[in-house]
Amino acid sequence: MKKKALITGITGQDGSYLAEHLLSLGYEVHGLVRRVALEQPESRLSRLQGVLGQIQIQPANLDSYASIFHVFSKQQFDECYHLAAQSFVAESFADGFSTMATNINGTHYVLAALRELQPKCRYYFAGSSEMFGKVRQTPQQETTPFHPRSPYGISKVAGFHLTMNYREAYGMFCCNGILFNHESPRRGFEFVTRKITSGLARIKRGLASELRLGNLEAKRDWGHARDYVKAMHLMLQQPSPDDYVIATGEAHSVREFCELAFSEAGFDYRNYVKKDESVYRPAEVDLLIGDASKAHAALKWRPTVDFTGLVKEMVHSDLATISPVAKDDVAVVSAI
Ligand code: NAP
Ligand code: GDD
Repeated sequence: MKKKALITGITGQDGSYLAEHLLSLGYEVHGLVRRVALEQPESRLSRLQGVLGQIQIQPANLDSYASIFHVFSKQQFDECYHLAAQSFVAESFADGFSTMATNINGTHYVLAALRELQPKCRYYFAGSSEMFGKVRQTPQQETTPFHPRSPYGISKVAGFHLTMNYREAYGMFCCNGILFNHESPRRGFEFVTRKITSGLARIKRGLASELRLGNLEAKRDWGHARDYVKAMHLMLQQPSPDDYVIATGEAHSVREFCELAFSEAGFDYRNYVKKDESVYRPAEVDLLIGDASKAHAALKWRPTVDFTGLVKEMVHSDLATISPVAKDDVAVVSAI
């Protein structure tokens, strides 16, 4: 019998890689997609181009309990990967209310519907290193206390505790992944790594002359999304549910990312990157670096792509795909 998995957020970076991974393992893959995305398939389903014919779309919205309940009432799943969220930290400062509503209530809706209709389904929650925020310990581990610095981080702490509570209160198989930043050529344009590589490609094509960025000294532990979705799957294959940090154990600054990316294209970033105070966050997370030794030991998981490999892959992908017709995007991306 094929295992059946539901992925919320399947149209996003991680959802698309996870769908490919589960299909490669022989799963029947279903994806929860909001109706507005179905109305614009070329742009909103673009990351799923390679697998659209092999997955089954379930229309629903995290903002509606009824729509989620309906999906779980139609068929049983063996595994549910809850990845959907408002995932951009800066946007959570701009509209904390909708970030909280989507990320906290949405997570609660998924858990409550599972408990009601299919309590044996194994559940993964997309927790985040943003929960550590103003870090109390370096590197961060599963036991490091949380100190979130944004409405997004707070919403993920709430999702983490909801997930743990359903595990403890109802005996459900609920796992929290505490994933550090992970990127890829499929990363959204608003996140700093993709903003840098897509901005660089536009500069190279003569479509832009500068790249406006905020805090260049922030440090992140950046891995590759393709590696990280494998850890999500491994968590749900264990004998008992648990929480795991997933990270490379190496931190680099935004400045280092710029330096390496621009040099890969034959440029000196100092001639193009301009400081933009408007992109600074009201409360910054200065340094994230994870200790994934628990995942190494229990899941036998290891990252395969290092910082240099990640930066080069993203640079070359954008250099190959950003075309002169994308000129209108320049203003949009540089304004984020
Ligand atoms: P992403 O590319 O921004 O994808 C987010 C997904 O959530 C999209 O499929 C989006 O659908 C969906 N979504 C948003 N609001 C929704 C709603 N109201 N109803 C239904 N679907 C909704 O994010 P990602 O990078 O793949 O990350 C996946 C998850 O991991 C997120 O929960 C994120 O917070 C978490 N996380 C990410 C990282 C990272 O570094 N990437 C690290 C730690 C944790 P549309 O396509 O319709 O917008
Ligand atoms: N987006 C953005 N744009 N960030 C900038 C910029 C800019 O122009 N300039 C500097 N930065 C800095 C931010 O201030 C932050 O310190 C760092 O670059 C990374 O920002 P993002 O790429 O937006 O990611 P994030 O770390 O805030 O959040 C991502 O990782 C989390 C895991 O730690 C997201 O994927 C979250 O969903 C995820 O949970």
